[in-house]
Amino acid sequence: MPRPRPRSQPAGPAVRLPTVVLSAAVPSGPVLAVPVRPADDGARLVGTLDVPGVDADGLLARESAKGGAGEIVAVPVPGEGPLQKVLLIGVGAAAPGDLRKAGASLARRAKDAAELVVDLRGLDVDGAGLRALVEGLLLASYGFTRESSPTPRALQQVTLVGPELQADLDAAVAVSRATASARDLVNTPSLEKTPDWLAGAARTLLSGLSVSVLDERELAAKGFGGIVGVGQGSTRPPRLIEAVYDGGGSRHVVLVGKGITFDTGGLSLKPTAGMLAMKTDMGGAAAVLATLRAVADLELPIKVTVLAAAAENMPSGTAQRPGDVLTQYGGRTVEVLNTDAEGRLVLADAIAYADAELDPDVIVDVATLTGAMPVALGTRYAGLFASSDELAAQLEQAAGTSGEPLWRMPLVEDYRPALDSPVADLRNIGQPKLKLGGGSITAALFLREFTGGRPWAHLDIAGPGRSGSDTDELTKGGTGYGVRLLTAWLTALSATPSRRPRRLPRRSA
Ligand code: BES
Ligand code: MN
Ligand code: ZN
Repeated sequence: MPRPRPRSQPAGPAVRLPTVVLSAAVPSGPVLAVPVRPADDGARLVGTLDVPGVDADGLLARESAKGGAGEIVAVPVPGEGPLQKVLLIGVGAAAPGDLRKAGASLARRAKDAAELVVDLRGLDVDGAGLRALVEGLLLASYGFTRESSPTPRALQQVTLVGPELQADLDAAVAVSRATASARDLVNTPSLEKTPDWLAGAARTLLSGLSVSVLDERELAAKGFGGIVGVGQGSTRPPRLIEAVYDGGGSRHVVLVGKGITFDTGGLSLKPTAGMLAMKTDMGGAAAVLATLRAVADLELPIKVTVLAAAAENMPSGTAQRPGDVLTQYGGRTVEVLNTDAEGRLVLADAIAYADAELDPDVIVDVATLTGAMPVALGTRYAGLFASSDELAAQLEQAAGTSGEPLWRMPLVEDYRPALDSPVADLRNIGQPKLKLGGGSITAALFLREFTGGRPWAHLDIAGPGRSGSDTDELTKGGTGYGVRLLTAWLTALSATPSRRPRRLPRRSA
């Protein structure tokens, strides 16, 4: 795997993530962590701990330690030496998921220490294990602060002793930094986060890549009726952000993100409680933009275009009304029966544009689309809808390795008539009279209409886009869900030769 190109610090107010380095020997430092695994009678140290006055296995027994992933027994070290504390860190079965939890737990416990050394010599970590451990360490160290406020305490430097896996370390750092950038975008309050602000933030995040932005006049002139319709109630006009990374290779992937910078519901106004977290409604856009940063830093041999459809959904004298009919990009008409089903309107324009103009091999959209999705799957799993079993299997595989889980949902053909309208090509919410339910499914079926039959997947991240608490590698607030998943998918995809060459080589005469 190529080494990521060094780049300047990302824009935005993220706490600088700790620096992680590999080392063959244990450097001196204030905090040393050593792994512990479950044993028949409790927990056992993995490898050796050569610290005078510290009997690790005796302490584990006295503390009734189990060695489960993330469990910590902290041992103060007596004496005047530099080492002040040993952290006995449970790693469970030492699978990637366990090491991710262990890394996150260590980062939280050691955040006052500035420097942490983790002795991995007793553990046989492979690339996937190291990546998971590092992602846990870095992502749990994330914190969001306004630029003007003081930087909260966090771990500054981590030394991992043992593994010689520099390329895997670099990959984990790239994806973690990208995830932190996505979290920053989501956590920024909507007072500041207008569609135009998001376009500027995309340009900063993606410096070195081609980024172009359509403003409200250009959107109207080119027929992006969904983005214009959703954005017309706000004094802060909509934008379509298009960014490209071309690393060669034979495939072109288009990633589409929902970028509602605040979702009040529009004239179909949300109640107060339902509106509280709606600065998160651009989490899909944040995920795809940040994924492009990671893909570029990793120099993957693939072409990826990102489309972020940004608008603020507000009620006002200029807002779209229930019953309005708008014309999506490409000419299809939609009867807007609920202005709170706005995500599909902005996504449909971007997906139709991708199909008509970008000739992608595959389209994946990411969106905080429906409140019904976390009802079905809870707040950790994304819903996956896909028109292609092969694509679904690839994404399921990536979910398994990346730590961002998903569950495939069905595109039920029998529900499609719920989207028929007597006055337009489609209605934007399922016909309630049919009593079919399945709000996440009808939303996905709506999007499918605009994919032109191309291989397409839709990730409904309404659940995992936010976390209500600091848990494992997640921090309270925006999670950046999708960055790790999509980067893992694109890494695997770009390493597999395409069965069908995109363009037939021109035959020489
Ligand atoms: N952004 C919301 C979906 C959402 C809800 C995301 C809760 C995260 C948490 C979306 O725009 C929306 O309002 N969807 C409606 C659709 C309905 C009007 C058909 C919903 O789910 O209630
Ligand atoms: Mn809405
Ligand atoms: Zn929304």
